[in-house]
Amino acid sequence: MSRLIPGALLALSLTVGFGLPANAQESPIRIPEPIRIEHEHLHQDLAEAMKAGGRTGDAASQVQQALSGHFEEENRLVMPLLGLLEPLAKGRVTEQMRPAVAMSREVQQKLPRFMEEHRAIHKAVEQLISAAEAEGKSQVADFGRRLALHAQHEEVVLYPAAIVVGERVEAALAAK
Ligand SMILES: [Fe+2]
Ligand SMILES: [Fe+2]
Repeated sequence: MSRLIPGALLALSLTVGFGLPANAQESPIRIPEPIRIEHEHLHQDLAEAMKAGGRTGDAASQVQQALSGHFEEENRLVMPLLGLLEPLAKGRVTEQMRPAVAMSREVQQKLPRFMEEHRAIHKAVEQLISAAEAEGKSQVADFGRRLALHAQHEEVVLYPAAIVVGERVEAALAAK
């Protein structure tokens, strides 16, 4: 048993440490877990809604089309910046955070497009809610309301926070 432990530890350190590319193990710029999970759940619920059939299923497919590309761009550009909120609030600023400056500028520049995409998503979601209500699919209607709230949360909290993060990192690195 005791001879197995060093081997197990080596395997563990390989998995945890050396098995990952350098920036994956070190970069603090990563999507906070609750946000990653929320996006994943919305996708799963949308996939379920698309199986609902009838007008509801068709409307859910329209929502899927409106969302296509949008979630991916958020997950690539916006959400990882939010991983810096916690260290920044604790006064921790490191050189590894520097890419956040360019990322946040890109968010600012793409903000009008994100908002336009949200308007298209919102229209599709309204259709989904009314189809689901008409067909008595209350779970899908609830999902539609959650998705609308999610987009609103992004507009008034998450997008602005992602932009502020980059500005804060830039100012803190300049002062170092
Ligand atoms: Fe989102
Ligand atoms: Fe969004």
